[in-house]
Amino acid sequence: MKESILVIGAKGQIGSELVEELRRINGSSNVIATDIKEPSPELRDGGPFVQLDVLDFPKLLEVVKKNNVKQVYLLAALLSATAEQKIKSAWKLNMEGLLGTLEMAKEEKFKLFWPSSIAVFGPSTPKVNTPQFTITEPSTVYGISKLAGERWCEYYFQKFGVDVRSIRYPGLIGYKTEPGGGTTDYAVHIFHEALKTKTYESFLSANTALPMMYMHDALNATIGLMDADPSRVKVRSSYNIASMSFTPQQLADEICKHIPEFKITYKPDVRQQYADSWPQSIDDSVARADWGWQHEYDLAKMTKDMLEHIQQMVEH
Ligand code: SER
Repeated sequence: MKESILVIGAKGQIGSELVEELRRINGSSNVIATDIKEPSPELRDGGPFVQLDVLDFPKLLEVVKKNNVKQVYLLAALLSATAEQKIKSAWKLNMEGLLGTLEMAKEEKFKLFWPSSIAVFGPSTPKVNTPQFTITEPSTVYGISKLAGERWCEYYFQKFGVDVRSIRYPGLIGYKTEPGGGTTDYAVHIFHEALKTKTYESFLSANTALPMMYMHDALNATIGLMDADPSRVKVRSSYNIASMSFTPQQLADEICKHIPEFKITYKPDVRQQYADSWPQSIDDSVARADWGWQHEYDLAKMTKDMLEHIQQMVEH
């Protein structure tokens, strides 16, 4: 029987692009997309789609068994800003979703990808070039759920041999799907507004540096880690990865090179606190040494590519 790949949370910022990429690599019919929401026309027409809640484990198990699923990407989660508004449902989705899927991975023997985040770090973490192994005392609900998740991943690997792999994503920037409910979302919104209105009001202050990554690199990291020989995946909690760090002001200056009239203003809101608790830059030398992670996009290259693609989307 042919083997399939399952993506849970396929309508999200990462999921929608990951499904496309996995379908291109593995063939459309071998990648099953699932989400709690109705599928977009592209998801529905591009290959198999099942509408399901990740917490509905009997239904999830049925999909896994019926399709001989051998790899699962669990991307259903509430991000930092939304999680602060909905503490209990964030914990339930982020934790129970992972625990149920880890249990299933143990029984059904599939390989599991689960994303962690720079949000596992907190105010007491060294902020510059944050090491792979350091203080993790997160101060957000989202960060607490990611840290607990990392511990569970390592536990299931050590106790039960579950082949679970994870990355601590920085803020992710892509043009295909809007992010939802995160602190780093400004770095996507700014491009749409720059092209539409030539202005942007940032909810983070001018000098708030955060680690960021272009979606192209994030997808390569994700698929690269999943494809790596198991012996090279030495960290089974979650890997630091990095490509660029910038402030809203630096991003605005880069956009101005393409749109000279562009103006940014600042009105920090509650998300400023979450950003202030996170690192400014990340040391990812362990991921580079262990499984050969490399990035392609820096601030200049990412900005040019984002503006070109969003412009094309507006024109069509
Ligand atoms: N991008 C996420 C957020 O802002 C961090 O992992 O919530």
